[in-house]
Amino acid sequence: MEFFTLENKNGMKLKLTNFGGIVSEIHVPDRDGTLADVTLGFETVEEYQDHNDAYFGAIIGRFGNRIGDCSFCLDGTYVSGLHANDGKNHLHGGKRGFDKVVWDAEEISGDGFTGVKLSYLSKDGEEGYPGNLQATVIYKLTDANEWVIEYEATADKTTVYNPTNHAYFNLAGHAGPSPLDHELQINSEFYTATDDGGIPTGAIVPVAGCGMDFRQAKAIGQDVDEAGVVSSRGGFDHNWVIDKRPDEFALAATAWDPKSGREMKVYTTEPGVQFYSGNFLDGSLKGKGGTVYQKRSGFCLETQHFPNSPNIGHFPTTTLRPGEVFKSKTVYAFGVR
Ligand code: GAL
Repeated sequence: MEFFTLENKNGMKLKLTNFGGIVSEIHVPDRDGTLADVTLGFETVEEYQDHNDAYFGAIIGRFGNRIGDCSFCLDGTYVSGLHANDGKNHLHGGKRGFDKVVWDAEEISGDGFTGVKLSYLSKDGEEGYPGNLQATVIYKLTDANEWVIEYEATADKTTVYNPTNHAYFNLAGHAGPSPLDHELQINSEFYTATDDGGIPTGAIVPVAGCGMDFRQAKAIGQDVDEAGVVSSRGGFDHNWVIDKRPDEFALAATAWDPKSGREMKVYTTEPGVQFYSGNFLDGSLKGKGGTVYQKRSGFCLETQHFPNSPNIGHFPTTTLRPGEVFKSKTVYAFGVR
């Protein structure tokens, strides 16, 4: 296992390890050009191996977020026995998901970017999923201050696939003041309602008139407690349906820290984004530089297909068939305002 540090012509830096494809540092300039590391994480691979229960910076697979009751029906075959690691449900790929495996890594570069190509063969039956799945994830840092993620995969049996990245952000710096005063705008009119276990029921609910409404930018902290009441999930931890055409590469969300001026725009080909306000962080994790990560000290914008899709026929499909090539792209673009 090793670390790779990418650096662009503006001095922006991104550090990652091939353990879990974890991005451990992202150094971004503020409006005065001062760099800060805006992602939560640890310093060593050992810490990520031992206690990255929060999934800091990691690739999530085979399936981002939850699958209800650890089972689903796929082309008439009942797939059961996914690992139950969230009560009776399956979360973020199971016991040893893509966040905990060692990826093959190859450094790459091209016009205006440097990067790392990560590859992993997930064997037939791993964590209960059918088919050998050959997955690649390319991380690029561009001279336009973008972190680009390109996912590809093929499978030799019909299966499901829904990868994402679980980076936590605080645009004031990972050790900085709470990001609850960041302004967030989500390009979405609907979210997928869940049961108390965070499993989408299939209902697609308008955000209008409730705390889930981020159509206009507002502070993350403004309605965070109301969101907890709406969903019994204790803060924002939901999938928003991005207002775009299928496969269109479009803006999903914009986060902005008024104090530093740092802004992050999230673009994706994916139909959904899980906005998670770091509700389960509780001060028990000590990260880089001894920083204690308190409740809601970082937030995630995980681009994805909707959680529990294999069980909800009217959600965009996560089925991957032999002969098909899964492709997905997400960009976190940093700037200042
Ligand atoms: C999020 C998920 C949360 C929680 C978190 C990890 O993606 O929606 O419910 O599991 O990951 O702590």
